[in-house]
Amino acid sequence: MGKATSSFFCHECGYESPRWMGKCPGCLAWNTFVEERYSKKERKGRGEGTRNPAAPCPITAVKGEQEERLLTGMGEFDRTLGGGVMPASVVLLTGDPGIGKSTLLLQVCAGLARQGYPLLYISGEESAYQIKLRGERLKACHPNLLLAPETDLSLILEYLEKVRPRAVVVDSIQTVSDPALTSSAGSVSQVRDCTASLIRAAKEGGMAMFLVGHVTKEGLIAGPKVLEHMVDCVLSFEGERHHSYRILRTVKNRFGTTSEIGVFTMEEEGLREVANPSEFFVTQRPAHTAGSVVVASMEGTRPLLVEVQSLVAQSRLPAPRRMATGLDYNRVALILAVLEKRAGLYLQDHDAFVKVVGGVRLEEPAVDLGLALSLASSFKNRPAGGQDLFIGEVGLTGEIRSVNRVQERIREGVRLGFCRFFIPAAAADKAAKIQGACLVPVATLEEALEICLGR
Ligand code: TYD
Ligand code: MG
Repeated sequence: MGKATSSFFCHECGYESPRWMGKCPGCLAWNTFVEERYSKKERKGRGEGTRNPAAPCPITAVKGEQEERLLTGMGEFDRTLGGGVMPASVVLLTGDPGIGKSTLLLQVCAGLARQGYPLLYISGEESAYQIKLRGERLKACHPNLLLAPETDLSLILEYLEKVRPRAVVVDSIQTVSDPALTSSAGSVSQVRDCTASLIRAAKEGGMAMFLVGHVTKEGLIAGPKVLEHMVDCVLSFEGERHHSYRILRTVKNRFGTTSEIGVFTMEEEGLREVANPSEFFVTQRPAHTAGSVVVASMEGTRPLLVEVQSLVAQSRLPAPRRMATGLDYNRVALILAVLEKRAGLYLQDHDAFVKVVGGVRLEEPAVDLGLALSLASSFKNRPAGGQDLFIGEVGLTGEIRSVNRVQERIREGVRLGFCRFFIPAAAADKAAKIQGACLVPVATLEEALEICLGR
């Protein structure tokens, strides 16, 4: 073993520095450096650590080995990963404590175990009995699913050699530690080194690996950001604690797109897939209420209809309050400015609160028109039509700009009973043939407001 060294690590992004720094050059966060002592092993001969050294070869000569993806039986989960789990890939699942990460992965394991694959669930947080109890509730108990409550890296690697599972869950990576390192479990150097060893084991053994990473606020344990660049895929499990729906989002995916989402609800018997999220998000909508508007946003390959709600009210503050949940704050500010300047709505002395219902985050510009209509509808206190759907980007001059996949969005709307579609005038030709859709092509925001809310 080499000599003990000490380094400073940013617990947000893992940036390493020999000195303490106030601001991290890696992620620009302040006061995130913590000192960690660890001992480095001596570097041995060439190629150590890589058991199958690969000589450089021409790109045209590379043989493709198209491997079958594993289907877990949870459609939403498979789709989020880009159509199933890649063998020999490492997926990091992050989320707040208690959001349902262990539940999700136990159900995923059960799905794979039922297909006859050997599975290994390593838990450093719960005892085998606790997991079994949960498994019984989820109806996820299967003899192919092996449990190992273990935190020692060397033992975990041994189990992987012995069991040779098809997929393995490590819940959570922050509890795993390598006794050869002197730093404490959960510190940046431990988490990083253990992950590197686990990733190597997964790649060599051809197994799919799921690592659970807690999102942490304090600096005592390293956050998942430290690991994001090392793994193949990062999933984030989100939701509001007081609501039952959960959204699984891809943050990084080496084998698919990052725009897919999976929607679940947390029930008594575990997580249930919501195969039809648009319906789920739109059905509880209040009828004929000012400020409530439905937009169509593309989430990955499918359109998702969601409700945007606004509340615009006279403010008593010198600087009115503006708040946005589920939307970019600056986007809301921009739309408010366009409404004021181009459509003549006097919003300066009004508070504006905007919320996307269902904990969804909307990032596409195609929701601009709906957002503008929602704000205007609340300001004028006139409801938009209950069967109106809004698609379009708003430019700074108040023009409605075309967006992609207008037809798919309209079709999803028709399916859910919407009949009037406000779309960019430039996209009117493409969408003309859709049955059951009454199209309202609009060129400017002013025009849309006039048709929808009246003068
Ligand atoms: P858990 O998977 O332990 O969360 P994490 O691993 O992300 O910390 O889920 C914990 C929460 O889920 C807990 O508050 C109880 C709830 N839950 C249900 O509502 N139904 C269930 O069937 C299960 C297993 C958990
Ligand atoms: Mg857990």
